[in-house]
Amino acid sequence: MAGDAVERARMSQPDVVTMTGIGKRYSTAKGDDVTALTDVSLSVRDQETLAIVGPSGCGKSTLLRLIAGVDHQTEGTIQRDSPDGGFVVGYIFQESSLMPWRSVYDNVRLPLEVVGRSDPEAIDELIRMVGMQDFEKAYPIELSGGMQRRVSLARAFVHKPSIVLMDEPFTGVDEFTKEGLQHELSRMIRELGATAMLVTHDIEEAVFLSDRVLIMSPRPGRILAEVVVELPKERDPSMRSSIKFFDAAREVRERVLEIHQVGQADPAV
Ligand SMILES: Nc1ncnc2c1ncn2[C@@H]1O[C@H](COP(=O)(O)OP(=O)(O)OP(=O)(O)O)[C@@H](O)[C@H]1O
Ligand SMILES: [Mg+2]
Repeated sequence: MAGDAVERARMSQPDVVTMTGIGKRYSTAKGDDVTALTDVSLSVRDQETLAIVGPSGCGKSTLLRLIAGVDHQTEGTIQRDSPDGGFVVGYIFQESSLMPWRSVYDNVRLPLEVVGRSDPEAIDELIRMVGMQDFEKAYPIELSGGMQRRVSLARAFVHKPSIVLMDEPFTGVDEFTKEGLQHELSRMIRELGATAMLVTHDIEEAVFLSDRVLIMSPRPGRILAEVVVELPKERDPSMRSSIKFFDAAREVRERVLEIHQVGQADPAV
């Protein structure tokens, strides 16, 4: 599809999450106030993958926690809609968070247990999708870092969540393994028709996996720019050397640099 057609198809999808005027202030243990987010408005459409990039401490993890409802905004509203009713999230945390006392199979099963469902077919399908079928009975300590990330991917999708929230899912994974995991993740998102939001420091990862990249300012985090990725929904590793991929990555990088320079020139930002 040409860029305009991709954009039109995206615009015709209903919103799954709509944030309007979101602010978040924390009170620290010392009694100070920290403003993590200010005036953030964004929407994530059904079957869209939205990437968020921004400097450390600008509120990216906070944003995901607010969407998941495990923390609450101090200003603004969040509307959560699911085409099939109940709103459920899948979460891939910034740190690997498999439960060490549970096998691969039981880790993947966990989100189903939490919502009181049993779906052995979904567990088998997801474990197969991430290529871990020979390790179902293994424990996390017996797996490599890349394999642990695969199990985290399967766990995040197994209960067919309304949105999968991914907080730097491949940080600390070597480049070679990371590209393979990114490709697997993009295939899962497409085959499962999932909606996803990805936080990353890696511009190429943001472009490869997403339909749009939002760029945030240093804390207090605001959304300062948006880059639409005009690549087909089905992503292939060969696209990394395409002109469109290169153009999108360059645009994101330029916006990030501009924001960084403004931030340095203006101590109030
Ligand atoms: N529970 C908390 N109590 C107080 N301050 C907090 C809390 N959680 C986060 N913050 C502050 O809010 C700001 C944003 O934190 P957040 O973890 O969302 O940033 P981030 O963009 O995810 O950073 P990174 O890229 O390093 O993961 C930081 O200044 C942080 O110190
Ligand atoms: Mg974070």
